[in-house]
Amino acid sequence: MKLILLGPPGAGKGTQARRLVDKHSIPQLSTGDLLRAAIAAGTETGKRVKALMDSGKLVPDEVVNEIVSDRIDQLDCAKGFILDGYPRTLTQADAVEAMLSDRGTHLDAVVELRVDDDAMVERVSGRYTCVNCDQGYHDSLKKPDVEGVCDKCGGGEFKRRPDDNAEAMRTRLQIYYKETSPLIGYYYAKGKLRPVDGMASIDGVSEEIALVLDKI
Ligand code: AP5
Repeated sequence: MKLILLGPPGAGKGTQARRLVDKHSIPQLSTGDLLRAAIAAGTETGKRVKALMDSGKLVPDEVVNEIVSDRIDQLDCAKGFILDGYPRTLTQADAVEAMLSDRGTHLDAVVELRVDDDAMVERVSGRYTCVNCDQGYHDSLKKPDVEGVCDKCGGGEFKRRPDDNAEAMRTRLQIYYKETSPLIGYYYAKGKLRPVDGMASIDGVSEEIALVLDKI
């Protein structure tokens, strides 16, 4: 299965992608995570994109297209993958079409998570993750069962993203509406778009996605 999760910052793409990984045994390809890993590793790409990402701006298309093209050729992607945060521009969407058709395959569905702006700002501003296993939490919406201890791995160290602040969030939302939201029409026209209510609970969203995927 080859799937795109589409939605604004904070819509829950990463949260749902991680659940789909467990359920379908296919990898999550988050361009945000791959770029943050490049920054952490101090690669040339990482140095080039850090300031852009911290301020909430998009990284150039050619950089992310190359990262994804290389990643989907790895063995763990043979049965499929979940694209999380990619494509984000019409140029990237055309690149995905070309990448898949060059490999004799196609997209199965684009799940669009629909949420409202206020909820996104709340979700993003309270978000943090476990340093050890990357499990996601939120100050009020999703606390660990035991305060200060990761539910998944038992780790006790957490981190917050540099772009999860009010100013960068405003930029990220503006860019989403300008550059990424046209993809909704793009995939609707191709018959691939599957809208889901992203305002439901995390379990509720997962259930709705499962129903959508059962039909493809
Ligand atoms: P990226 O890492 O992709 O960030 P994003 O798209 O802004 O998305 P987020 O990770 O912020 O949100 P999400 O939808 O995954 O929500 P989450 O599940 O965490 O990109 C970061 C940057 O990298 C970009 O700004 C850009 O600079 C660069 N970049 C990346 N890809 C690029 C590309 N293709 N082209 C160019 N540049 C690129 O959930 C958020 C919070 O809400 C969590 O705390 C979660 O617990 C909570 N939550 C989730 N679902 C629910 C729910 N249903 N109810 C209540 N709470 C919920």
